[in-house]
Amino acid sequence: MDAIRIVGGAKLNGEIPISGAKNAALPLMIASLLSEEPLILDNLPRLRDVQQLQQILSNHGVSYMIEGKRPGQDTMAGQTVHLQAEEIIDTCAPYDLVSKMRASFWVIGPLLARMGHCSVSLPGGCAIGTRPVDFFIDGLAALGAKIEIENGYVVADAPGGLVGGEFTFPRISVGATHTLMMAATLAKGTTLLKQAAKEPEVVDLAECLIAMGARISGAGTDTITIEGVEKLHGARHSVLPDRIETGTYAMAVAMTGGDVFLRGARAELLQSALDILSQTGTTVESSADGIRIARNGAPLKAVSVATDPYPGFPTDLQAQFMALMTMAEGTATITETIFENRFMHVQELARLGAKISLDGQKAHVTGVSKLKGAQVMATDLRASVSLVIAGLVAEGETKVNRVYHLDRGFERLEDKLAACGATIERISA
Ligand code: EPZ
Repeated sequence: MDAIRIVGGAKLNGEIPISGAKNAALPLMIASLLSEEPLILDNLPRLRDVQQLQQILSNHGVSYMIEGKRPGQDTMAGQTVHLQAEEIIDTCAPYDLVSKMRASFWVIGPLLARMGHCSVSLPGGCAIGTRPVDFFIDGLAALGAKIEIENGYVVADAPGGLVGGEFTFPRISVGATHTLMMAATLAKGTTLLKQAAKEPEVVDLAECLIAMGARISGAGTDTITIEGVEKLHGARHSVLPDRIETGTYAMAVAMTGGDVFLRGARAELLQSALDILSQTGTTVESSADGIRIARNGAPLKAVSVATDPYPGFPTDLQAQFMALMTMAEGTATITETIFENRFMHVQELARLGAKISLDGQKAHVTGVSKLKGAQVMATDLRASVSLVIAGLVAEGETKVNRVYHLDRGFERLEDKLAACGATIERISA
């Protein structure tokens, strides 16, 4: 299995292009199931999760065509992909596909709305927590679906079609909001989703669905209203920039020092994280084209933070921020409020010399003056990249194993960092 080898110590200077957001790309691709006409997505990132979802969708009958590059086009530019579900050939999403990627469970919304029936394997737990699907089940039932759990599958029926209804999410869920919003676009009547997720990826999906002919208002607020329509049509939509990739590189620059322009990043998508980063002593300057991150000589200050749904500090940046705090002056408390088991990076950061103590959902991180390179591995995507950030400043060599986690969600990570001066390379097994 490939590994990433880093020799720490170099400052980052230059420019990093920000890719399309993984967590917007996935629901957007799933939305293609709602129409028999083509959905064209621009700025789609080249990621393992995107490839995996392509396989899952093709199992349902979605054709997938990647547009070739034009001469002179930037090699880092996102892909343009045509997805078309002219006919749904299979309404079953089997265990061996769904268990590989949790977001593929979300096909339950469009499949049920369009076909009136589907069976989708329960995704099971994952490294960051138990991650149940009760909100999906209760929400689809509120739209008139009859749902049974049989042999590990959620079997959903709505023979006469879904009907508009009202559903209040017991707590904020990004995936359940995506799924119910997609399902409600083809329901008869009006649906009200309350305490909905306000994440930018929900807004991006809503904009794409609206371009496909859906009638949606309120995406990005607590209450989303969807007036069902009979059919959706084809559309073209560009995936929004990845706020988690943006925040990850911003923290990498804060960690190493230097000056990097994150081209294409949009500050309003991660303002809370950028505000926290400013408090650490890092310079953050946003403009229409991107965000400049710099730290030249200023000491890193410890800042405490708690994760929260958008617009709060994202759980998907918690591990990266923890890596940064391992070198800050003082002690920072990092509280994880979204997932119950998202601290697996703590033990690995400790292998590099970090001082972190855990107390339930809180991690107390006391800055040290240096980290030392070691072999490390992680069990999820964001945890893995936090080890890369730590490796960029650790003395000597750090080898991050299980790189497939990074490939799930970071496009050309080592190329982007190396272009800014990092000593980083992929070692093939
Ligand atoms: C999305 O996951 C993201 N994934 C995650 O990113 C992200 O960490 C998470 O939202 C929170 O922001 C994608 O967009 C593909 P949730 P999702 O439903 O939708 C509980 C990454 O690294 N819950 O908002 O699965 C759940 O257990 C990933 O890119 C229920 O209890 O997360 C969690 O505690 C990992 N019942 C909380 O809600 C349900 O039916 C929020 O989870 C559904 C969720």
